[in-house]
Amino acid sequence: MTTRNRVDVIHGVNLDMLGRRPARHYGDLTFDQLEQQIGEFARELNLEARFFQTNHEGELVEHLHRLEGLADAVVINPGAWTHYAWSIRDALEIAGLPAVEVHLSDVDAREDFRKVSVIRDHCFLTIKGQGVEGYRAALTAIKEKLDL
Ligand code: DQA
Repeated sequence: MTTRNRVDVIHGVNLDMLGRRPARHYGDLTFDQLEQQIGEFARELNLEARFFQTNHEGELVEHLHRLEGLADAVVINPGAWTHYAWSIRDALEIAGLPAVEVHLSDVDAREDFRKVSVIRDHCFLTIKGQGVEGYRAALTAIKEKLDL
């Protein structure tokens, strides 16, 4: 039997700039450190993590199109696209995989525009305001969802 433990960890626009963004919202890890930490969480949970980041909306859409057969679940932090990118919402629907939405900051305690998420109805869980630990919670929830 093949193990269904492949998790695609997706970061959208401006997340590659972590380390240069306000630490009070996003913490002080660089993007590389964030990915490294997520990789460690995944290893601890026996999940196989694959990473993708882009600042180009269409690239994220095409990445989601290509996931069929390559991933069993998705962790996605689309950055500002969360709040308005219907194309990403539709592509997530096409991907059809169990997905968790993660935000480093507490989007509901910030500006009003951040309270809207267009992807939320295609995610079985949203985690916000827990910094990097939110990714551990997301991967743990995915492990449970996949019955692993
Ligand atoms: C973010 C929150 C978004 O509102 C913001 O545009 C980001 C990062 C977060 O991780 O807290 O770029 O998704």
